[in-house]
Amino acid sequence: MKIIVTKDYESMSDAAFAVLSAVVKAKPTAVLGLATGTTPLGLYARMAEDHRKNHTSYAGVRTVNLDEYVGLGPESDQSYVYFMRENLFKHIGIPQENTNIANGKAADLEAECTRYNALLAALQQDIQVLGIGSNGHIAFNEPGTPFGAETHVVRLAESTIRDNARLFAREEDVPRSALTMGLKNIMHARRVLILANGANKAKAVKGLVEGPVTEQLPASVLQLHPDCTLVVDEAAASLLAR
Ligand code: PGA
Repeated sequence: MKIIVTKDYESMSDAAFAVLSAVVKAKPTAVLGLATGTTPLGLYARMAEDHRKNHTSYAGVRTVNLDEYVGLGPESDQSYVYFMRENLFKHIGIPQENTNIANGKAADLEAECTRYNALLAALQQDIQVLGIGSNGHIAFNEPGTPFGAETHVVRLAESTIRDNARLFAREEDVPRSALTMGLKNIMHARRVLILANGANKAKAVKGLVEGPVTEQLPASVLQLHPDCTLVVDEAAASLLAR
C-alpha cells in the first residue's frame, strides 16, 4: 500500500485530487468509483473548481457509487443520490445517465442488488475512492462482512448510526439499513484511493495499514489490493508506527 501523510484535511484533499484528476486526464472515458460522507467533500470541491476553471471534461466519464440508504431517494436531502448531485455531479457537467447509484427506494431490494452487481461487473472502476468508518468499515461493509460479499442489503452497525447521526436532525432519523457494494466489488477496482482525516479515524487507519487482514476490520482487506493508495492527514496517521 502506498501511504501519503499530509498535514491537514486541505492538503489531504489536494493530494486526492492530484491522483483522481490524473486518472481522468489519462482516460477521458474512465469509470470512477465514488464515495459519500464528509471525507471526500474537499476532493469534490476541487474537481468542481477544476471543471469551472480548466474545463476538464467529464462528458465521457461514468461513475458508480458505493452505497445508498434504504428508503431514501433523490427527493431526500439525506440520500446519497442527492448528496452526489449537489456536491459533485451538477458542478462537473457529467451527463446524469453516466452516473450510477443503487436505488434505495426499489420495491424489490434483492433484485436491485442483483441489477447493481451486474452493472458493476460491466463497469470496472479505473479508480475507487473510499472513506473509512471509525469501526473500519468501507462503504457500508460493517465488521464481520465476508470478504467475498458482493452488492447486498446491510443492517448498519450501532457505531455507524451514531457516527452518521450528526448529519440528521435526530438519531432516530438515521436509516437502519442500506444497499452497499460488497468488498469483492471494491477489490475488483483497478486502483483504490482511500482517504482518512481526523483523530477519530486513527485506530481504524492503524488496523487498515498494520493490523491483521481480518473481516473484523473490513478495510484491512485492502492490504491485499495490488494498487491501493492511502492519503491520510497527520491526525488520522497518529497511531501508525513510522
Ligand atoms: P465520513 O464517513 O467521510 O463521513 O467520515 C466515512 C465512512 O463512514 O466511510
